[in-house]
Amino acid sequence: MRHVLSLFDLSAEEIRRVLKIGTDLKQHFVEGLRPTSLEQRVLGLLFEKPSMRTRVSFETLIRHAGGSSLFLGSDVGWGTREPIQDFVPIMTSYLDCLVIRAKRHEDVVAAAQYSRCPIINGLTDYSHPCQALADILTVQELLGSLDNAKITYIGDANNVAFSLALVCNRLEVPLTITAPSEYQFDSDTLSLLNSVATGPKTEQTVDPLSGVEGSNIIYTDVWTSMGQEAEAKRRIQDLAEYQVNAELLARAGVGARFLHCLPARRGEEVTADVIDGPASAVIQQAENRLHAQKGLVVWLLNEANQK
Ligand code: CP
Ligand code: NVA
Repeated sequence: MRHVLSLFDLSAEEIRRVLKIGTDLKQHFVEGLRPTSLEQRVLGLLFEKPSMRTRVSFETLIRHAGGSSLFLGSDVGWGTREPIQDFVPIMTSYLDCLVIRAKRHEDVVAAAQYSRCPIINGLTDYSHPCQALADILTVQELLGSLDNAKITYIGDANNVAFSLALVCNRLEVPLTITAPSEYQFDSDTLSLLNSVATGPKTEQTVDPLSGVEGSNIIYTDVWTSMGQEAEAKRRIQDLAEYQVNAELLARAGVGARFLHCLPARRGEEVTADVIDGPASAVIQQAENRLHAQKGLVVWLLNEANQK
């Protein structure tokens, strides 16, 4: 059975296929059409952390496609009420697909071992593959193609950066991470990410000014991810030089666009004038969660795991 726990699970060709399905379905949606290729399918959402975009986009896309969803919070007792070897095979025998947002990535990996339906990672401490699919779809729309894309990610090399690096390496898009060395990927992680690159490899630099030069996409995420709240004060101090503000954006290529997975903290990783200004494409990027994930679910259920 095929699962999508990270973008290591998808080849470059499969990512292109997911994006093609998502783009076609977006076009249909814009024209007022909602093809029902997932009729009667039931999508479960098992979430251990808060969410707006991920939850609402998955719950909406399955309805557009003729199916339905179940949101499953802490009351179902995952990890507390009964062991995983009972919980997961039973729950996944009811469902057609399960999206999990978990505190620990290893719990999603363990769930996949017992699962009877495809699992999609809806964010863990390690990766956020659905976000990266929407991100690259947005870059493609903004620039017309990925051929001349050059992306700089500024700030904490976290779950979002991890998935962004994988999608860039798979699709041969140059990516530079700029962060203080202790917030960069360690050398083993960088080697792992770069092991899938067939074109340019992800690079890292501590210098934000040279890091953004020549890039047409500037991307950041929060400095303090969910679960790291106790470190917030230190993180704000350590990353202060890496804020995306008008001055830093001006160092990037002419017409460079700004992306952020959201939610954002204005005044920390990005200033209000940038995220609310003309360079920002964050609303389009968030909207694309719906379309990219629709492509993913249709591909996963109707092509990769055909019944
Ligand atoms: N970007 C993202 O995953 O948003 P939510 O946490 O609101 O789902
Ligand atoms: N890095 C952030 C992303 C939220 C969508 C977090 O994990 O909290």
